[in-house]
Amino acid sequence: MSQFPLPRLGFIGAGRLARCLALSFSRAGYPVTAVASRSATSAARLASQIEHCTASDDPQQVVDAGDIVFLAVPDDSIGTSAHTLRFGPDAARSGKALVHCSGASPVALLAPARDQGAAIGGFHPLYLFSGDLADLERIAGCSVTIEANGALKDTLTALAIALRCHPLSIPPGGRMLYHAAAHYAASFVLCSLAECVALWRTLGFAEDDALRALLPMLAGTIETARDKGLSNALAGPVSRGDTGVVAKQLALLEDLGGDHAALYGLLSRRAVGLAERRASPPAAIEAIAAAVEESLNRSLNRAAAGASVK
Ligand SMILES: NC(=O)c1ccc[n+]([C@@H]2O[C@H](COP(=O)([O-])OP(=O)(O)OC[C@H]3O[C@@H](n4cnc5c(N)ncnc54)[C@H](OP(=O)(O)O)[C@@H]3O)[C@@H](O)[C@H]2O)c1
Repeated sequence: MSQFPLPRLGFIGAGRLARCLALSFSRAGYPVTAVASRSATSAARLASQIEHCTASDDPQQVVDAGDIVFLAVPDDSIGTSAHTLRFGPDAARSGKALVHCSGASPVALLAPARDQGAAIGGFHPLYLFSGDLADLERIAGCSVTIEANGALKDTLTALAIALRCHPLSIPPGGRMLYHAAAHYAASFVLCSLAECVALWRTLGFAEDDALRALLPMLAGTIETARDKGLSNALAGPVSRGDTGVVAKQLALLEDLGGDHAALYGLLSRRAVGLAERRASPPAAIEAIAAAVEESLNRSLNRAAAGASVK
């Protein structure tokens, strides 16, 4: 990349993600030479924790002082920020690179840097950064999804390993689907818990009591999925082939109104898919699938009728 044994790293943006990455890379021995942010104060707060690191409110200083520049700004600012940076006539030969850390935004937003000869790429840690120092330890064991070619791909892979993370490769154009799907392992788990809490509330359960009961079960489910895989970790009436229970629960939720039965039906359809992947699926799986599809049809017809009345 340069005459330096390790590439010099810089950060534009000094928020939750930049804080963890800049401090972790520095602790792993990488030179983090410059941080810039919208406000010089947040850049200075981060740079002051890293040896030989300068702070400013001018992103160009990060480009001038580093080899790999991480654009760690909100997604809506990635394109506009990339347009303002100048990489100089030597960018390709000296191995300059511009990298963003978003899971959803296309790497093509960095095209202005590529047009000046810099390499461009994506480096998306699959982790929810809090901005706390605890992130530095908790990120170990996570995965980082990398989109890049050639030498930059090798460098970003080495950087992911320096964070004690697993590098994952993603093809160009895949980021939006990849990011949308990843919600199922983060926010949508919370949404499932919120649905349970809402239903239990009708029985008089308080949210705190509900979470105290649910979170250990969730933790156990995650451990089992890790040990045995998704289909073997599946528990509950679909996995046992209890058609009667599934049908009665769907009917009960239909009676409650709203979209409770539709949500339960769609997730039950996925549970049927998981049960079918087992070496010996429950004998009643087809009857369960039929009950789920009938309920979903009723829910969808009701939703369509409601929409046409409005
Ligand atoms: N947070 C996560 O869990 C997470 C996980 C994976 C990926 N990411 C990605 O990481 C990137 C950064 O997210 P974040 O959560 O770290 O955001 P954040 O905490 O809101 O921090 C954003 C930083 O960017 C600075 N900034 C905003 N606009 C700027 C501009 N035009 N020029 C220079 N600096 C600017 C802010 O400056 P001031 O501090 O000066 O206001 C702040 O330091 C995003 O692309 C996001 O998708 C985040």
